[in-house]
Amino acid sequence: MSYLSRRSFLIGAGAGVGAVVLGACGSPSNSFSPASAVEEAERLRRQDGAPVRVVDLATVAGPVELGPLLVESWSYGGTVPGPEIRIRAGEVLQVRLRNQLPTETTIHWHGIALRNDMDGVPGVTQDPIPAGGEFTYEFAVPDPGTYFFHPHVGVQLDRGLYGSLIVEDPDEPGGYDREVVMVLDDWTDGVGEAPDDILARLTAGGMDHSGMGMGNEDSGMAMSDVLGGDAGDVMYPLYLINGRAANDPQVIEANSGERLRLRIINAGSDTAFRLAVGGHSFTVTHSDGFPVMPVEGDALLIGMGERYDLEVSMREGVTPVVAIAEGKGGRARLLIRAGTGEPPPAEHLPDELQGRLVTVDALAATARVEPKAAEPDRIHRLALDGDMMSYRWTINGDIWKGTLPLDVSSGERVRLEFDNRSTMFHPMHLHGHTFHMSLGGGARKDTVIVKPGQVLAADFEADNPGRWVVHCHNIYHAEAGMMTGLTYTP
Ligand code: C2O
Ligand code: CU
Repeated sequence: MSYLSRRSFLIGAGAGVGAVVLGACGSPSNSFSPASAVEEAERLRRQDGAPVRVVDLATVAGPVELGPLLVESWSYGGTVPGPEIRIRAGEVLQVRLRNQLPTETTIHWHGIALRNDMDGVPGVTQDPIPAGGEFTYEFAVPDPGTYFFHPHVGVQLDRGLYGSLIVEDPDEPGGYDREVVMVLDDWTDGVGEAPDDILARLTAGGMDHSGMGMGNEDSGMAMSDVLGGDAGDVMYPLYLINGRAANDPQVIEANSGERLRLRIINAGSDTAFRLAVGGHSFTVTHSDGFPVMPVEGDALLIGMGERYDLEVSMREGVTPVVAIAEGKGGRARLLIRAGTGEPPPAEHLPDELQGRLVTVDALAATARVEPKAAEPDRIHRLALDGDMMSYRWTINGDIWKGTLPLDVSSGERVRLEFDNRSTMFHPMHLHGHTFHMSLGGGARKDTVIVKPGQVLAADFEADNPGRWVVHCHNIYHAEAGMMTGLTYTP
């Protein structure tokens, strides 16, 4: 592990990080850290008299409807996506989870800068919630934006266990008329091979795609130029928007002339999507919840775990929103009906998919969220490696939990250098913080696609004490080892 520490003195003595106990791997969870520093950070985040929003969730095993298709899977309360959670920035979210699965689970609040002990990483921030057990998550939600929630256990995300978490901005500047949340997903559970079987097959010696249900290409290989090569390990039988397949899409009613805000979430496990709105261009306004300088485009690339908000001015007619599984060939759809008109056939691919493609390097942070121009106090390089053959995806040569945690100290400005030495892209995700990209105009994000051969720097303020993780949001890569700790030390 190569890191460089120019200075390691403590800033912000109030944070009480002196009490940090370095948690070695395998140390009992909940004994890790400065419980007092986590409490203090939460106290500073909480606004006096902030309302507490109470939500009841249950993880259940049983039938879910994907449009007309009834499949057996696991979900939050029997629907896919699970119930949308919507609150305002500054409020407190309290979620009471009853686990009715035959196995343990947790919930991770993806992208939220929340108190560490509510982050939902089993063995790191909490004990897993056993079958039949319950757990109450409660935390202040500091920043508005588009987020989602999912388990952090095994490959449960690749079943129906996900839902959107929308944090409204009390000072919303947007002048849009209507909002549409679109959760994209790659689906196999109950239709093709079960996610746990896919993981077992891949880790047993992954090259053989013959068990892959309905693989689309003769070679079984998914390739994409914009992803820099290999586009995925799993050919899914279905791709979904809001739990509906392309031949039976959800239909949203709108009016022509309206300005729509589309909140796009990629909850897929092994699929990046390329999304376009047929017959329309759009303006990208937010990435991973945070505002960006508006950029116009025709198509959007969105990796697993990323979120983007788009604005579109609706024309008269029935407009298809099409998300193709980048490099894989399958697709998902949603229709927006604004006035009269006939929907295009399910096979129709809008020209916009081949138009101006917006990727992260085109985005710049707005003044409100601009980084402090500062050199990092500490640099951690994360060499990302692995291949299909061994299906051992590593960070700095090791797999979770053999990876050495990355040390940071409260008050530091930290740079993560993602260095992708493999032939496949990795959407790298940091818990509990958001970073500024070194490329383009420094968009603020928590998940970023790192292409093969690419080195990307991501800078963040170490202002949220605890034990966190950094990992690839390809859930099969994460389970095969591509995850490491990020630990606050004195
Ligand atoms: Cu959405 Cu650690 O993940
Ligand atoms: Cu990966």
